[in-house]
Amino acid sequence: MLAEDRLSALLDAAVDAMILADERGRITRFNRAAEALFGYAPAEVLGENLSMLMPAPYRQEHDGYIQRYQKTSQPRIIGIGRQVLAQRKDGSTVPIELSVGEFVQGAEHGYVGILRDISERLRQQAQLKNQADELRVIFENAPTPILITDLAGQIIKANRACCALLGRSEEDLLGRSQLDLLHPDDRAGAQQLHQLSVEQPASRYEWRYLRGDGTVVHTTNYAALSVETDEQPPLIISEIVDRSALLSAEHEAEELRARLTHAGRIGTLGEMVSGIAHEVNQPLTAIANYANACRRLLQSGNAEPAELIGTLEKISAQADRAGQVIRGLRSLTRKRDAVRERLDCNQLISEVAKLLEFELRNSGWRLLLRLTPRLPTVTGDGVQLQQVVLNLVRNGIEAMSERASGDFIQVETYRSGAGFIEIAVSDCGPGISEAVEAHLFEPFYTTKHQGMGLGLSICQSIIAAHGGEMSYRGNAMGGATFVVRLPTAE
Ligand SMILES: Nc1ncnc2c1ncn2[C@@H]1O[C@H](COP(=O)(O)OP(=O)(O)OP(=O)(O)O)[C@@H](O)[C@H]1O
Ligand SMILES: [Mg+2]
Repeated sequence: MLAEDRLSALLDAAVDAMILADERGRITRFNRAAEALFGYAPAEVLGENLSMLMPAPYRQEHDGYIQRYQKTSQPRIIGIGRQVLAQRKDGSTVPIELSVGEFVQGAEHGYVGILRDISERLRQQAQLKNQADELRVIFENAPTPILITDLAGQIIKANRACCALLGRSEEDLLGRSQLDLLHPDDRAGAQQLHQLSVEQPASRYEWRYLRGDGTVVHTTNYAALSVETDEQPPLIISEIVDRSALLSAEHEAEELRARLTHAGRIGTLGEMVSGIAHEVNQPLTAIANYANACRRLLQSGNAEPAELIGTLEKISAQADRAGQVIRGLRSLTRKRDAVRERLDCNQLISEVAKLLEFELRNSGWRLLLRLTPRLPTVTGDGVQLQQVVLNLVRNGIEAMSERASGDFIQVETYRSGAGFIEIAVSDCGPGISEAVEAHLFEPFYTTKHQGMGLGLSICQSIIAAHGGEMSYRGNAMGGATFVVRLPTAE
């Protein structure tokens, strides 16, 4: 093969367009890839000025470039390569990467240009950039606060909603440790986040952040680990949800419940007040009688000290009894926040029984207490639990005034399985029909003329707040048994 033919074959095999030109810039060779790129046949371009392959204004300036280079030997493109526009036969332009070399072979001197169509590459780059821009816009404007940190907790990015939630500018956040932004009590727990691993890629934390103005914001932080890539080490992406609204709603509901519970209690006691007054009056009458007896003894002049002491002891016992009723009444009427303490249910029931004594005696029923000794304690609010017992016993008394198959109401306490105790209140009333049973715990459901229909629903919400449950069942006397099941404190 002639050297000439070999060169042609070589040029035509190249993937890139290759164009050779003489020292004045006239085309001497035009390979096959160049034909495909420009749409010219070699015969149309050979001997023509290279500038025909360029769009204005380069077309007009090209001869000037060559002359300047030949005069100054200062290359602008030769040996460097750059991105330029080429013009096809049909007049359209195409972005190309152009590298130019110079060659001298004997007397012959010329240039070689290698051209690569980069329109696809540029399109892809533009698309990637668009996608990145789009993602940035979404991230920035997402309504959810998002915080991105590295594995050590240093903040890398925070979107607008995050800055607003934390009350800090982006500059203030970037580069800081997330731990610094947390309430001091939450920092220790927050260290766990940095143990997030591939096995446990997502977690949920309840943290308080310190806002820029020093106030505290309660949040739920949903953290996830991003997947490690060649370009990117793993990051922790946190969605921070503001819980303040939720907490204040919870708080409001809690307050409402407390108010309702208290109102219910006052209502119940209001209904019981004449009975309770009677209960207090009895010891007072007894005290007055004993006091009179003492006076008469002393007046008669033959008072035996032993006799006097015995009577005075009776006075003091009666005063104690009146005091107990008043104390029970006072603690039940006082409005106060719910408390949590260790409680002996047997003791609570014995106390509340004193308030019920008159009402029971008046209606002719006995109150039987069958309290299991050494009952495990429960945690909660004693006054509220007493309210439950009070409501249940009074429902029983009211039911028995309708129809009674026996003459007692029984309150029982016992252990029930591991970790629970139960309080069961049983009456000898008519029991509860299925139709009524379906609505028992609904607020304002009552079958009574004077009833509010709140008793059982208040009981249920109190017991639920103590982590327990309330249920109803019929009993052997044909009456109703309400069972309160409570977790024990241990
Ligand atoms: N021991 C019971 N025996 C029969 N029916 C009962 C008994 N306890 C409750 N009920 C029925 O359930 C209804 C709802 O009871 P709940 O204590 O909630 O309200 P109420 O007693 O009617 O009114 P309130 O307790 O607000 O004064 C009662 O009206 C009654 O029909
Ligand atoms: Mg009731």
